[in-house]
Amino acid sequence: MDRLRYGFIACVSTALVASACSSPASTSVDGVTFPKEFFWGSASASFQIEKGNTNSDWSAWVATAGKIKHGDSPDRGGPDGLAHIDDDLRALTDAGQNMYRFSVEWSRIYPTKAAFDADTPDVEALAVYKQILEKLKAAHITPMVTLQHFTLPIYFSDPSKNSEPQGWEKPETAAAFGVFCGRMGKEFGGLADYWTTVNEPTVAPLGGYVSGDFPPGIVLAVDRFFTAIKGQARGAAACYDALHRSDTIDVDGDGKAVLASVAAHQRTFHPSDPENENDVASAERVRYLSNLWFLNTLTRGDWDDDGDMLLTGPNDKVADPAMKGRVDYIGLNYYSDTLIQFQGSVPLFKGLPTRDHLPTGRARTDLAWDIYPEGFETVLVEAAQYGYPIIVTENGLADASDKNRARFIGEHLLALGRAQKRGADVRGYIHWALTDNFEWAEGLCPKFGLYSYDAATGARQARGSVATFRSWIQAGAVTKAEVDALAPYVAPVECTK
Ligand code: BGC
Repeated sequence: MDRLRYGFIACVSTALVASACSSPASTSVDGVTFPKEFFWGSASASFQIEKGNTNSDWSAWVATAGKIKHGDSPDRGGPDGLAHIDDDLRALTDAGQNMYRFSVEWSRIYPTKAAFDADTPDVEALAVYKQILEKLKAAHITPMVTLQHFTLPIYFSDPSKNSEPQGWEKPETAAAFGVFCGRMGKEFGGLADYWTTVNEPTVAPLGGYVSGDFPPGIVLAVDRFFTAIKGQARGAAACYDALHRSDTIDVDGDGKAVLASVAAHQRTFHPSDPENENDVASAERVRYLSNLWFLNTLTRGDWDDDGDMLLTGPNDKVADPAMKGRVDYIGLNYYSDTLIQFQGSVPLFKGLPTRDHLPTGRARTDLAWDIYPEGFETVLVEAAQYGYPIIVTENGLADASDKNRARFIGEHLLALGRAQKRGADVRGYIHWALTDNFEWAEGLCPKFGLYSYDAATGARQARGSVATFRSWIQAGAVTKAEVDALAPYVAPVECTK
């Protein structure tokens, strides 16, 4: 198959589809340099690293037999982040990083609906998150606080009642999330300027309503998926507004008390058969719904209510003031590519992912995801069209042997450099993840951490790739020669548990 055809997303010309895919191919750069103020960080999420979160939809999901590989739970052998705050701080400092993205758990702060309604938060929960923020401040590490990373309190999303609307399908969830964000802005705004409103707004509903491996666990309910997506968009906008109202303290003195965004999961999507025009069209629809719908809504206020890629429907809106401008930067997560095959009976998407891989003999991660840095360049350029600065809020790989991580990071940083040359204003790179953690339905097997931990003592151990990553951070530069000199990728490790 002609390699170039796979290098760029096939383009269908419609009113709402970004034009990034028609940009000319970029030439490679010899290296990339970063300004002093560039953010270098790593990330975590409350449910993935904490123990004892018992009041969310994910706690119920983990407790349901057969939902998580090997029956894993963050409570049994997870990294126990709240008991190891100092260890994680040391890891960040040791890695030479100046930003930490972590999330506060809504259901830990408000364990019951009564507590939420009465605004009687759990004081210990507030205290422990404040402690993290204060320690970050003392270590001169800028926090980025995520307010919703996949989990929702069980009183808004109960997977045991999934025949009724759950979570973001219910209008009350978006409104309540706005209230939660306002309270968090007031509580923590004196210590944080950078916020993520919702993490990966398309991914949790895809898991929850299309593949069914996330709560509420429904398969191929595309209408409910889209309702949830719209609920999240309203929630993200309400959160943005509430943060801007409640957090008035400019921590770093740059004139901005709040810099908030979603962390958008962006991928490249290729047609399973590039000669098949139905596959080409469905790959384009999936790209639109995954990469563009949300950003069109929260940047331009363009609300495509029927998801038909046009703004001509009866409930569509152009530049809706209730949605427009609800990000201050674009948070962008990137991992890999997906091949899409036409399936006419699937509403909206008209296609589904296949298990196939890019036909270019690429190395893969331990989760069998293609390592595809070219796609990183593509999605950064695609996101740049919105005219906002970009912070890469996640990029990483499952790599238990750690033999691929340094090359992966280096190749992605070079791709970032190429995207910068093509106009993407990238202000930071946050690696997923700081430590190994609970990888949702995949359980504890996949090793995404720059640091591993001892399951008995919790002690953090730097993987070898940290030294290479740190040397690039310290130099503020990565050269192609350095990346080329690293050992070639090796085959993924299968989790034996
Ligand atoms: C999520 C993380 C997850 C990572 C690796 C992202 O989709 O935000 O929670 O662990 O990817 O799968």
